[in-house]
Amino acid sequence: MPPARETAPQLPADRFPLPGPPEDHAATPSLTDPRFAHVCFHGAAETSPTIVVDPFTPSVPYGTPLKDLVESEPHPPEDLGFVRRLLRQAGLRAEGYRATPLVRRIPACLRALRVTTKEAAERLVADDPAKLQIAVNALLIGTTSFFRDAATFGLLEEAIVPLLVEHSPLPRVWSVACSDGSELVSIALLFARYGAAGRCRFLGTDCRPSAIASAKKGHYSQEAIASMPADLGERYFENVGKARRLIPAISSRIIWKVSDILSDTEPGLWDLILCRNLAIYLGPAVTQQLWLKLADALTPGGHLVVGKAENPQLPGLERVGPCVFRKSSTFRP
Ligand SMILES: C[S@@+](CC[C@H](N)C(=O)[O-])C[C@H]1O[C@@H](n2cnc3c(N)ncnc32)[C@H](O)[C@@H]1O
Repeated sequence: MPPARETAPQLPADRFPLPGPPEDHAATPSLTDPRFAHVCFHGAAETSPTIVVDPFTPSVPYGTPLKDLVESEPHPPEDLGFVRRLLRQAGLRAEGYRATPLVRRIPACLRALRVTTKEAAERLVADDPAKLQIAVNALLIGTTSFFRDAATFGLLEEAIVPLLVEHSPLPRVWSVACSDGSELVSIALLFARYGAAGRCRFLGTDCRPSAIASAKKGHYSQEAIASMPADLGERYFENVGKARRLIPAISSRIIWKVSDILSDTEPGLWDLILCRNLAIYLGPAVTQQLWLKLADALTPGGHLVVGKAENPQLPGLERVGPCVFRKSSTFRP
Protein backbone atom coordinates (compact mmCIF):
# COMPACT_ATOMS: atom_id res chain seq x y z
CA MET A 1 0.00 0.00 0.00
CA PRO A 2 1.48 3.40 -0.86
CA PRO A 3 2.28 5.71 2.04
CA ALA A 4 -0.65 7.82 3.20
CA ARG A 5 -0.58 11.45 2.18
CA GLU A 6 0.03 13.98 4.89
CA THR A 7 -2.78 16.30 3.94
CA ALA A 8 -6.10 15.90 2.22
CA PRO A 9 -7.30 18.28 -0.49
CA GLN A 10 -9.55 21.18 0.50
CA LEU A 11 -13.15 21.77 -0.51
CA PRO A 12 -13.25 24.23 -3.41
CA ALA A 13 -13.86 27.58 -1.74
CA ASP A 14 -15.85 28.96 -4.67
CA ARG A 15 -18.41 26.13 -4.64
CA PHE A 16 -18.53 25.10 -0.97
CA PRO A 17 -16.91 27.81 1.11
CA LEU A 18 -15.41 26.59 4.31
CA PRO A 19 -16.86 28.31 7.35
CA GLY A 20 -15.73 31.87 7.85
CA PRO A 21 -16.49 34.44 10.52
CA PRO A 22 -20.22 34.47 11.39
CA GLU A 23 -20.70 37.97 9.93
CA ASP A 24 -19.75 36.62 6.50
CA HIS A 25 -22.45 33.99 6.49
CA ALA A 26 -25.17 36.02 4.81
CA ALA A 27 -22.96 36.37 1.78
CA THR A 28 -22.17 32.66 1.58
CA PRO A 29 -23.76 31.26 -1.59
CA SER A 30 -24.20 27.70 -0.32
CA LEU A 31 -26.50 28.95 2.43
CA THR A 32 -29.16 29.56 -0.18
CA ASP A 33 -29.02 25.98 -1.40
CA PRO A 34 -32.07 24.33 0.20
CA ARG A 35 -30.37 20.96 0.23
CA PHE A 36 -27.83 22.30 2.70
CA ALA A 37 -30.30 24.32 4.73
CA HIS A 38 -28.93 23.11 8.03
CA VAL A 39 -25.27 23.69 7.24
CA CYS A 40 -23.52 24.99 10.32
CA PHE A 41 -20.85 27.62 10.07
CA HIS A 42 -17.82 28.52 12.06
CA GLY A 43 -18.72 29.36 15.63
CA ALA A 44 -22.00 27.48 15.57
CA ALA A 45 -20.51 24.28 16.93
CA GLU A 46 -18.86 26.14 19.80
CA THR A 47 -22.01 27.95 20.87
CA SER A 48 -24.49 25.09 20.53
CA PRO A 49 -25.02 22.94 23.62
CA THR A 50 -24.02 19.29 23.64
CA ILE A 51 -27.32 17.92 22.50
CA VAL A 52 -28.55 14.63 21.32
CA VAL A 53 -31.85 13.90 19.66
CA ASP A 54 -32.83 10.74 21.42
CA PRO A 55 -34.92 8.60 19.08
CA PHE A 56 -35.65 6.15 21.87
CA THR A 57 -36.94 8.58 24.45
CA PRO A 58 -39.50 10.77 22.68
CA SER A 59 -40.75 12.16 25.99
CA VAL A 60 -37.37 13.78 26.66
CA PRO A 61 -37.30 17.29 25.18
CA TYR A 62 -35.02 17.96 22.25
CA GLY A 63 -31.76 19.41 23.43
CA THR A 64 -31.47 17.49 26.66
CA PRO A 65 -27.76 16.95 27.37
CA LEU A 66 -26.76 13.34 26.88
CA LYS A 67 -25.45 13.06 30.44
CA ASP A 68 -28.94 13.88 31.72
CA LEU A 69 -30.43 11.23 29.49
CA VAL A 70 -28.04 8.66 30.83
CA GLU A 71 -28.68 9.65 34.42
CA SER A 72 -32.44 9.54 33.93
CA GLU A 73 -32.40 6.00 32.65
CA PRO A 74 -33.50 3.72 35.49
CA HIS A 75 -33.69 0.15 34.34
CA PRO A 76 -34.34 -3.06 36.27
CA PRO A 77 -30.93 -4.58 37.02
CA GLU A 78 -32.04 -7.91 35.58
CA ASP A 79 -32.78 -6.24 32.21
CA LEU A 80 -29.48 -4.42 32.14
CA GLY A 81 -27.63 -7.53 33.30
CA PHE A 82 -29.27 -9.59 30.56
CA VAL A 83 -28.34 -7.32 27.65
CA ARG A 84 -24.85 -6.65 28.96
CA ARG A 85 -24.08 -10.34 29.50
CA LEU A 86 -25.10 -11.07 25.91
CA LEU A 87 -22.95 -8.27 24.51
CA ARG A 88 -20.01 -9.34 26.67
CA GLN A 89 -20.34 -12.93 25.46
CA ALA A 90 -20.10 -11.53 21.93
CA GLY A 91 -16.82 -9.88 22.92
CA LEU A 92 -18.22 -6.34 22.95
CA ARG A 93 -17.64 -3.56 25.50
CA ALA A 94 -21.13 -3.78 26.97
CA GLU A 95 -20.68 -0.91 29.44
CA GLY A 96 -19.93 1.47 26.59
CA TYR A 97 -23.51 1.31 25.33
CA ARG A 98 -26.41 3.36 26.63
CA ALA A 99 -28.88 1.27 28.57
CA THR A 100 -32.18 2.54 27.16
CA PRO A 101 -31.76 1.51 23.50
CA LEU A 102 -30.54 -1.93 24.55
CA VAL A 103 -33.24 -2.57 27.14
CA ARG A 104 -35.92 -1.51 24.68
CA ARG A 105 -34.71 -4.21 22.31
CA ILE A 106 -35.24 -7.05 24.81
CA PRO A 107 -38.69 -8.00 23.42
CA ALA A 108 -37.23 -8.07 19.88
CA CYS A 109 -34.36 -10.20 21.13
CA LEU A 110 -36.71 -12.72 22.78
CA ARG A 111 -38.82 -12.85 19.62
CA ALA A 112 -35.77 -13.45 17.46
CA LEU A 113 -34.73 -16.33 19.73
CA ARG A 114 -38.34 -17.63 19.88
CA VAL A 115 -38.43 -17.67 23.66
CA THR A 116 -40.63 -15.82 26.13
CA THR A 117 -38.25 -15.09 29.00
CA LYS A 118 -34.76 -13.72 29.47
CA GLU A 119 -33.83 -16.84 31.44
CA ALA A 120 -34.88 -19.09 28.55
CA ALA A 121 -32.90 -16.87 26.16
CA GLU A 122 -29.73 -17.22 28.20
CA ARG A 123 -30.17 -20.99 28.48
CA LEU A 124 -30.65 -21.23 24.72
CA VAL A 125 -27.52 -19.19 24.00
CA ALA A 126 -25.53 -21.29 26.49
CA ASP A 127 -26.70 -24.52 24.78
CA ASP A 128 -26.23 -23.22 21.24
CA PRO A 129 -23.61 -20.47 20.90
CA ALA A 130 -24.75 -19.81 17.29
CA LYS A 131 -27.85 -18.23 18.82
CA LEU A 132 -25.71 -15.50 20.35
CA GLN A 133 -25.44 -13.74 16.98
CA ILE A 134 -29.21 -13.81 16.60
CA ALA A 135 -29.53 -12.15 19.99
CA VAL A 136 -26.88 -9.52 19.25
CA ASN A 137 -28.39 -8.78 15.85
CA ALA A 138 -31.65 -7.99 17.60
CA LEU A 139 -30.05 -5.84 20.30
CA LEU A 140 -27.78 -3.76 18.05
CA ILE A 141 -30.03 -2.14 15.51
CA GLY A 142 -28.61 -2.40 11.97
CA THR A 143 -31.02 -0.08 10.17
CA THR A 144 -29.41 1.43 7.09
CA SER A 145 -30.20 2.23 3.46
CA PHE A 146 -28.63 3.55 0.28
CA PHE A 147 -28.02 7.32 0.26
CA ARG A 148 -29.53 7.61 3.74
CA ASP A 149 -29.94 11.29 4.65
CA ALA A 150 -30.25 13.31 1.45
CA ALA A 151 -28.62 16.49 2.78
CA THR A 152 -25.47 14.69 3.84
CA PHE A 153 -25.25 12.75 0.61
CA GLY A 154 -25.88 15.95 -1.31
CA LEU A 155 -22.73 17.43 0.19
CA LEU A 156 -20.77 14.24 -0.39
CA GLU A 157 -21.89 14.08 -4.00
CA GLU A 158 -21.50 17.75 -4.83
CA ALA A 159 -18.36 18.61 -2.95
CA ILE A 160 -16.40 15.96 -1.13
CA VAL A 161 -16.30 13.14 -3.68
CA PRO A 162 -15.41 15.49 -6.59
CA LEU A 163 -12.72 17.04 -4.41
CA LEU A 164 -11.12 13.69 -3.71
CA VAL A 165 -11.52 12.55 -7.32
CA GLU A 166 -9.73 15.66 -8.50
CA HIS A 167 -6.96 15.94 -5.97
CA SER A 168 -6.30 12.55 -4.46
CA PRO A 169 -4.42 9.82 -6.34
CA LEU A 170 -5.72 7.15 -3.97
CA PRO A 171 -8.80 8.23 -2.01
CA ARG A 172 -9.25 6.17 1.17
CA VAL A 173 -12.76 5.83 2.53
CA TRP A 174 -13.80 3.96 5.72
CA SER A 175 -17.36 3.27 6.77
CA VAL A 176 -17.39 2.45 10.49
CA ALA A 177 -20.44 0.50 11.74
CA CYS A 178 -21.37 -0.12 8.12
CA SER A 179 -24.17 -2.65 8.78
CA ASP A 180 -25.06 -4.37 5.46
CA GLY A 181 -22.81 -1.99 3.53
CA SER A 182 -25.45 0.19 1.85
CA GLU A 183 -23.74 3.36 3.05
CA LEU A 184 -20.27 2.49 1.74
CA VAL A 185 -21.68 1.13 -1.52
CA SER A 186 -23.49 4.47 -1.99
CA ILE A 187 -20.18 6.31 -1.64
CA ALA A 188 -18.37 3.87 -3.93
CA LEU A 189 -21.01 4.48 -6.59
CA LEU A 190 -20.49 8.23 -6.37
CA PHE A 191 -16.81 7.64 -7.11
CA ALA A 192 -17.79 5.18 -9.88
CA ARG A 193 -19.75 7.94 -11.63
CA TYR A 194 -16.41 9.69 -12.13
CA GLY A 195 -14.75 6.47 -13.24
CA ALA A 196 -12.66 6.74 -10.08
CA ALA A 197 -13.83 3.79 -7.95
CA GLY A 198 -11.00 1.67 -9.32
CA ARG A 199 -8.35 3.87 -7.74
CA CYS A 200 -10.02 4.11 -4.31
CA ARG A 201 -9.62 2.04 -1.18
CA PHE A 202 -12.93 1.33 0.52
CA LEU A 203 -13.17 -0.33 3.93
CA GLY A 204 -16.41 -1.25 5.69
CA THR A 205 -16.32 -2.50 9.30
CA ASP A 206 -19.02 -3.65 11.68
CA CYS A 207 -18.94 -5.69 14.88
CA ARG A 208 -21.74 -8.03 13.72
CA PRO A 209 -20.43 -10.92 11.61
CA SER A 210 -23.83 -11.37 9.93
CA ALA A 211 -23.85 -7.73 8.79
CA ILE A 212 -20.41 -8.15 7.24
CA ALA A 213 -21.42 -11.47 5.66
CA SER A 214 -24.35 -9.69 4.06
CA ALA A 215 -22.14 -6.81 2.87
CA LYS A 216 -19.66 -9.28 1.37
CA LYS A 217 -22.46 -11.05 -0.49
CA GLY A 218 -23.52 -7.71 -1.97
CA HIS A 219 -27.10 -8.79 -2.70
CA TYR A 220 -29.80 -6.16 -2.32
CA SER A 221 -33.55 -6.22 -2.85
CA GLN A 222 -35.09 -4.69 -5.97
CA GLU A 223 -36.85 -2.18 -3.68
CA ALA A 224 -33.57 -1.11 -2.10
CA ILE A 225 -32.00 -0.57 -5.51
CA ALA A 226 -35.07 1.32 -6.70
CA SER A 227 -34.50 3.83 -3.89
CA MET A 228 -31.19 5.02 -5.36
CA PRO A 229 -30.60 7.27 -8.39
CA ALA A 230 -31.72 5.25 -11.43
CA ASP A 231 -28.45 5.58 -13.35
CA LEU A 232 -26.55 3.97 -10.48
CA GLY A 233 -29.05 1.18 -9.84
CA GLU A 234 -29.14 0.20 -13.49
CA ARG A 235 -25.47 0.45 -14.26
CA TYR A 236 -23.78 -1.03 -11.20
CA PHE A 237 -26.04 -3.93 -10.18
CA GLU A 238 -26.86 -7.16 -11.97
CA ASN A 239 -29.74 -9.55 -11.46
CA VAL A 240 -29.21 -12.69 -9.38
CA GLY A 241 -32.53 -14.45 -9.00
CA LYS A 242 -34.93 -11.97 -7.47
CA ALA A 243 -32.15 -9.84 -6.00
CA ARG A 244 -29.63 -7.40 -7.42
CA ARG A 245 -25.89 -7.81 -6.90
CA LEU A 246 -23.20 -5.16 -6.96
CA ILE A 247 -21.05 -5.78 -10.03
CA PRO A 248 -17.54 -7.17 -9.39
CA ALA A 249 -15.85 -4.08 -10.85
CA ILE A 250 -17.08 -2.19 -7.78
CA SER A 251 -17.38 -4.92 -5.16
CA SER A 252 -13.78 -5.98 -5.74
CA ARG A 253 -12.65 -2.52 -4.57
CA ILE A 254 -14.29 -2.89 -1.15
CA ILE A 255 -12.88 -4.71 1.86
CA TRP A 256 -15.43 -5.79 4.46
CA LYS A 257 -14.22 -6.69 7.91
CA VAL A 258 -15.71 -7.71 11.26
CA SER A 259 -14.23 -5.21 13.68
CA ASP A 260 -15.27 -3.60 16.95
CA ILE A 261 -14.54 0.12 16.72
CA LEU A 262 -14.48 0.41 20.52
CA SER A 263 -11.60 -2.07 20.78
CA ASP A 264 -9.89 -2.42 17.40
CA THR A 265 -7.92 -0.01 15.27
CA GLU A 266 -7.58 0.04 11.50
CA PRO A 267 -4.18 1.04 10.15
CA GLY A 268 -3.55 4.03 7.97
CA LEU A 269 -4.93 7.50 7.51
CA TRP A 270 -8.28 8.06 5.84
CA ASP A 271 -9.53 10.88 3.60
CA LEU A 272 -13.15 10.21 4.47
CA ILE A 273 -14.60 8.36 7.45
CA LEU A 274 -18.31 7.75 7.86
CA CYS A 275 -19.46 6.78 11.34
CA ARG A 276 -23.18 7.35 11.34
CA ASN A 277 -25.83 6.26 13.79
CA LEU A 278 -23.54 4.35 16.11
CA ALA A 279 -22.71 7.04 18.66
CA ILE A 280 -26.41 7.50 19.48
CA TYR A 281 -26.23 4.07 21.11
CA LEU A 282 -23.11 4.83 23.17
CA GLY A 283 -22.50 6.53 26.49
CA PRO A 284 -20.98 10.02 26.46
CA ALA A 285 -17.46 9.10 27.56
CA VAL A 286 -17.19 6.31 25.02
CA THR A 287 -18.63 8.58 22.34
CA GLN A 288 -15.95 11.16 23.03
CA GLN A 289 -13.26 8.47 22.78
CA LEU A 290 -14.79 7.34 19.51
CA TRP A 291 -14.65 10.83 17.96
CA LEU A 292 -11.05 11.25 19.10
CA LYS A 293 -10.06 7.91 17.63
CA LEU A 294 -11.71 8.68 14.30
CA ALA A 295 -10.39 12.22 14.08
CA ASP A 296 -6.93 10.84 14.80
CA ALA A 297 -7.36 8.35 11.94
CA LEU A 298 -8.20 11.13 9.45
CA THR A 299 -5.69 12.72 7.15
CA PRO A 300 -5.34 16.42 8.06
CA GLY A 301 -8.04 18.07 5.97
CA GLY A 302 -9.95 14.77 5.82
CA HIS A 303 -13.68 14.57 6.55
CA LEU A 304 -15.72 12.77 9.19
CA VAL A 305 -19.40 12.16 8.44
CA VAL A 306 -21.76 11.46 11.33
CA GLY A 307 -25.47 10.80 11.83
CA LYS A 308 -28.11 13.51 12.08
CA ALA A 309 -28.39 13.17 15.86
CA GLU A 310 -24.64 13.11 16.43
CA ASN A 311 -22.44 16.08 17.10
CA PRO A 312 -18.71 15.58 17.72
CA GLN A 313 -17.17 18.55 19.46
CA LEU A 314 -13.41 18.43 19.37
CA PRO A 315 -10.91 21.22 18.96
CA GLY A 316 -9.56 20.91 15.45
CA LEU A 317 -12.68 19.25 14.04
CA GLU A 318 -14.72 21.89 12.21
CA ARG A 319 -18.27 21.47 11.05
CA VAL A 320 -18.42 22.21 7.32
CA GLY A 321 -21.87 20.97 6.39
CA PRO A 322 -24.78 18.80 7.38
CA CYS A 323 -23.21 16.08 9.53
CA VAL A 324 -19.82 16.68 7.92
CA PHE A 325 -16.72 17.70 9.90
CA ARG A 326 -13.27 18.50 8.65
CA LYS A 327 -10.04 17.82 10.51
CA SER A 328 -7.98 20.97 10.68
CA SER A 329 -4.27 21.39 11.25
CA THR A 330 -5.00 22.43 14.85
CA PHE A 331 -6.29 18.96 15.78
CA ARG A 332 -4.26 17.34 18.54
CA PRO A 333 -4.91 13.72 19.56
C1 LIG B 1 -27.98 1.86 12.92
S1 LIG B 1 -26.67 0.97 12.17
C2 LIG B 1 -25.90 2.24 11.23
C3 LIG B 1 -25.56 1.78 9.83
C4 LIG B 1 -25.01 2.89 8.93
N1 LIG B 1 -23.82 3.48 9.49
C5 LIG B 1 -26.05 3.95 8.67
O1 LIG B 1 -26.07 4.98 9.35
O2 LIG B 1 -26.89 3.76 7.78
C6 LIG B 1 -25.54 0.79 13.57
C7 LIG B 1 -24.48 -0.27 13.33
O3 LIG B 1 -23.48 -0.13 14.34
C8 LIG B 1 -22.94 -1.41 14.53
N2 LIG B 1 -22.15 -1.42 15.76
C9 LIG B 1 -22.61 -1.36 17.03
N3 LIG B 1 -21.59 -1.40 17.89
C10 LIG B 1 -20.45 -1.47 17.15
C11 LIG B 1 -19.08 -1.54 17.47
N4 LIG B 1 -18.66 -1.54 18.74
N5 LIG B 1 -18.18 -1.62 16.46
C12 LIG B 1 -18.60 -1.63 15.17
N6 LIG B 1 -19.90 -1.57 14.81
C13 LIG B 1 -20.81 -1.48 15.80
C14 LIG B 1 -24.15 -2.29 14.54
O4 LIG B 1 -23.82 -3.63 14.35
C15 LIG B 1 -24.99 -1.69 13.41
O5 LIG B 1 -24.77 -2.36 12.21
